[in-house]
Amino acid sequence: MKDLAGKVAFITGGGSGVALGQAKVFAKAGMKVVIADIRQDHLDQAMAYFKEQNAQVHAIHLDVTDRKAMAEAADETERVFGPVQLLCNTAGVNLLGPMAKATYDDWDWIMGVNVGGVINGIQTFVPRMIDYGKGGHIVNTASMSSFRPLLGTGIYSTSKFAVRGMSEALRIELEPYNIGVSVLCPGAVNTNIHEAVFTRPKHLSNTNNHVGEEEMKRQKAVLEPGLDPVVLAEKVLEAVKDNKLYIIPYPEFRETFIELHNRVLEALPDPKDDPDMIKRVEALKKHSASRKYEHIQETGR
Ligand code: NAI
Repeated sequence: MKDLAGKVAFITGGGSGVALGQAKVFAKAGMKVVIADIRQDHLDQAMAYFKEQNAQVHAIHLDVTDRKAMAEAADETERVFGPVQLLCNTAGVNLLGPMAKATYDDWDWIMGVNVGGVINGIQTFVPRMIDYGKGGHIVNTASMSSFRPLLGTGIYSTSKFAVRGMSEALRIELEPYNIGVSVLCPGAVNTNIHEAVFTRPKHLSNTNNHVGEEEMKRQKAVLEPGLDPVVLAEKVLEAVKDNKLYIIPYPEFRETFIELHNRVLEALPDPKDDPDMIKRVEALKKHSASRKYEHIQETGR
């Protein structure tokens, strides 16, 4: 999506961190921006900034796990600014700790926001974007953890692998509608994610991984040298304009990716050792050809 000025963006988690950076950069590019967040204090602080800038930004209090509220937020956005052409599913939460000690509440909270929230964004906005018929772009925020989990990031990594997989699949599906899809995979960003536990709902509060002051301080120490969210968002803006799949502006991970891909390649046998390969390749080609969608004109809304 080359021309952004005047178009409408909807950004989840827009009151803080990565998403607030996106809101600042897209508003500066002349977009009308809706920021949607579960924390009213984050929205209020962000709106104070945008008012000063005279930017066209509207705030909506939203829990991304609430499907009805997401649909209402989409309606409100259309009433205030018009149909959305840029969707940033950015809201996310983290929780560190071993999976062996995890509770179902841990899983349900992290998966509910990080995966469920993105699913709800897609379910709500994609049919509307297709109906509008003018193309657009979707940016889903995953993480470097969607490629390489670190010790203690099991639940978080699971959620981020899902977001990356979903984004790659969605990109193929939405291409005929001229809707691009990018997946943002940051390393450290200097944000408030160490405070994620403040948004944890009461009905999912059973945990063995209590996040206290000390743990928050430890997490903030890793975040502080991270990228500035506005600098990261400028990379996102470039990716939207150029329709790039991956946004990973972290040169320090080059070796990690080489190692990761070498490990995958090492798992593949030599073709000459497998005479049945040709049959499988042919079958797959046939299958792919038969699956070409006559693109679904009706979105079922
Ligand atoms: P942040 O905590 O500064 O911002 C996240 C915003 O999402 C907050 O304003 C929070 O209130 C909101 N939020 C949380 N739960 C919500 C819900 N249920 N509904 C609506 N809003 C909700 O954190 P940050 O770092 O900006 O996180 C944004 C995304 O970036 C997340 O998906 C995170 O996983 C991802 N990320 C962050 C990294 C970092 O180092 N900070 C690294 C890699 C990925």
